[in-house]
Parts: sequence; C-alpha cells; structure tokens
Amino acid sequence: MKSRFYAEEELIFRAQAYAEELLNSDRSGHGADHTMRVYRLACRIAENESVDRIKVKVAALLHDVDDVKLFPETAKTKANAARFLKEAGCEDADIAAILTIIEQVSFIGTDSVKPDTPEGCCVQDADRLDAIGAIGIARAFTYGGSHGRALYDPNEPPRLNMTEAEYRSHISTTLNHFYEKLLLLKDRMTTETGRALAKERHRYLEGFLEEFLAEWEGTR
Ligand code: ADP
Ligand code: NI
Repeated sequence: MKSRFYAEEELIFRAQAYAEELLNSDRSGHGADHTMRVYRLACRIAENESVDRIKVKVAALLHDVDDVKLFPETAKTKANAARFLKEAGCEDADIAAILTIIEQVSFIGTDSVKPDTPEGCCVQDADRLDAIGAIGIARAFTYGGSHGRALYDPNEPPRLNMTEAEYRSHISTTLNHFYEKLLLLKDRMTTETGRALAKERHRYLEGFLEEFLAEWEGTR
C-alpha cells in the first residue's frame, strides 16, 4: 500500500496524529492510548505473518475513528477513515481494503467475523488483546464506570450467545462483561502470536475473577 503524497513514515505519523485528534478526549476505554497499544501489538503480530505491514499499521491506527459508540454518524460509511485515506493520496483499492479491516474488527457477539485478510487478522487480534489482561480489566471497569454500570450482581447471570443487536443493547454488570466477551476472546484469536499472547492474558483474567468472587463472598 502506498500514498501518492507521503513516504511510509509520514503516512503512519499522520494517521497517528489524526487518531489522537479524534480520540484524545475519550475516557470510556477508546482513548488514543488504546489505539497506540493496538498499533504496537499489531506490529508485533505482523512480524510473524506474511502481510502488507503498512496496511496493518494504518488500519490499526484508524480502527476506532468511526467506532459506532463514539461516532454514530460515520460508523456505517467509515467516513472519517475514508476521508483521511483519500486526502493522503491512497488508491481506492487500498482504501477499500482498510475500510474492510475496520468493518470486521469488532467483537459483536455471535455476529463477529473472522477477517477476510491476514492484515485484518493482525489488527483484530491486537484489538482483542487490549481487551484482556491487566489493561483489559482496567478498561472494562473504566467503561462500566463511565456508563454507570454496577460492578457485579450475583442475581444477574451473564447472557451468552448474543447477536449483534442483543449485544449492543444489553445492559449488564461489568463482571458479566467478562463472561459475555472477555473470556471468549482467547479461543477466537486468528494468528499464532495472538493466540500465545492471549493465553497469558486470559490466565490473568481468570485469576482476577477468582479473587474478586472470593472477596465478594467473604471467603478470602
Ligand atoms: P474495542 O474497541 O477494543 O473492540 P469495545 O468497543 O467493544 O472494544 O469496548 C471498548 C472497551 O470497553 C473494551 O475494553 C471492552 O471490553 C469494554 N467494554 C465494552 N462493553 C463493555 C461492558 N458492557 N462492560 C464493561 N466493559 C465493556
Ligand atoms: Ni479498539
């Protein structure tokens, strides 16, 4: 993938600046810090895959600039990412490829998809890795707090196998989010590196849940 106007490093730098501009003020778990972690993880995963590295980098940097929760008016068309890429002088076929990666990245219950391309796999695994492990726990409670969710309610069981519409409209406790999404991610990684990293982070989630529930029940 190439830009007609910028060298590779300049394109990456501009995509990063654009993501920071749009996401900087977010405190619900989608801040520019999340984007930069996804970028670094995607680069690390891509080292072991046969992919177009620039595509992986640009898609990772732009993956949340049309997120439906933050930008409901551009989520469908991916207008923010599309405009950035057009103005950067990228070819239409490359723009379409990046928009497809962004379209396929999200976890949306049983309607989640395996990306069509190896570049998409790198970005999806990276995004999912940032939802688990210590950072993932911090992000889940940040999201829960910013949406007024309870930490936990033993009388409210988690709901599994939700469709996209159900997953998006479902309001639940933050602890339930672990069972409804976070613990499911380990087995849905699509790259070797993603699988290896997810295994570690998944163990961390399990240890956290065990401790949380023991403290809640007063057995520890
Ligand atoms: P991403 O952009 O990483 O795919 P999402 O858009 O699904 O993630 O959500 C952003 C962050 O907020 C993630 O860490 C996710 O796990 C967390 N999150 C999303 N929904 C909930 C929820 N209902 N309760 C707690 N955390 C949530
Ligand atoms: Ni994300």
